[in-house]
Amino acid sequence: MKTLAIETSCDETSVAVLGPQGEVLVNWVSSQVAVHAPYLGVVPELAARHHVEVLPRLLRGLEREGYLQGVELVVVTQGPGLIGSLLVGTTLAAAFAYARKLPLVTVDHLEGHLVSPFMNLTGEPADPIPERALTLVVSGGHSSYFLFAQGKGVPLNRTRDDAAGEVFDKVAAALGLGYPGGPVVDRWAELGDPDAFSFAPPRIKDPLGELDFSFSGLKTAVIRQAQQLGLTPLPDPTAPPQAALDLLASFRATVVRWLLAPLGTLHQRYHPPVVAAAGGVAANRLLRQELQRWGAATGVPVRVPPLALTTDNAAMIGRAGQLRAQVGAFADPLNVEPYPRVSWKGSGEPGTGKRLFPPLATP
Ligand code: KG4
Ligand code: ZN
Repeated sequence: MKTLAIETSCDETSVAVLGPQGEVLVNWVSSQVAVHAPYLGVVPELAARHHVEVLPRLLRGLEREGYLQGVELVVVTQGPGLIGSLLVGTTLAAAFAYARKLPLVTVDHLEGHLVSPFMNLTGEPADPIPERALTLVVSGGHSSYFLFAQGKGVPLNRTRDDAAGEVFDKVAAALGLGYPGGPVVDRWAELGDPDAFSFAPPRIKDPLGELDFSFSGLKTAVIRQAQQLGLTPLPDPTAPPQAALDLLASFRATVVRWLLAPLGTLHQRYHPPVVAAAGGVAANRLLRQELQRWGAATGVPVRVPPLALTTDNAAMIGRAGQLRAQVGAFADPLNVEPYPRVSWKGSGEPGTGKRLFPPLATP
């Protein structure tokens, strides 16, 4: 079914139209970076107001350019995210579906990230979702490996404190590099020595959480090091001195090493036929390189989303919704309740971990 998708869970207003096979016909992302940059993080009330202004404009744009012709399905992110932001998207999507008598599907934001590595941005149909896959979801809000098995996505670990993207953002903020920090740190890190500084790995004593992440100690250590070097803030953020480049390179290399640390164990345990990464941090150059290198060494195929589908976007939401529509999981447009939080609270094995979202269909 030709699909209209809407994503407003955080600070990007995004609409997309997909062909019936998940072909991305259009994917517009209106970033609020400039709105939130002065605050070095997302201000929920400003995010919601911005969605109220921008989303109707984007929809009118789609209408004007003819993309809405023949749309047969409406998909929207239901949660998790900022509740005011989610309300704008869900309300508009439900009203649109109701007024045009179209079926509505609501999806979990994470479900969108999980299908994104299997999409193409070339107008080509999306690839089938493998029966099983091990996927690292890394963004400003999440850092977890998920196992897709028998049509279910099950989280296998979590972060004990900060998400990886959050740590990129906070380190960048301390150095005066602006928001969001991931892309800038990634760029400057290319010019530094990743072995210049070393950081002690976290010690997690809980045996159930042996594969869990923890990044807040690293964040503190990097910021303290930057303070000692007189880099908080950088005198000129457009030309960081070599010491700053080395610190950023070492920091990035450490995050990537820690993100990939559980991979060997998880691979041995679950033998996934495919390994993937998704979420904003999956745009990171070093992470993409190291994942490919791991894939080449082990012979396991590695999938990462096209760069434009790593950060939040409606195209991935639309694809997740199409897969849900295939199993008949439709929503009542008069009764859509957004939810703010991830519904899952601890590490778990497949079958014992709480299920995050309904089964995905395998096309
Ligand atoms: O998926 P996303 O758009 O939003 C959330 O659901 O959180 O991810 C945004 C996060 C931000 O923390 C941003 O700094 C980070 O992804 N990010 C990166 C890169 N590009 C974006 N982190 C590291 N390297 C990058 N190249
Ligand atoms: Zn996201």
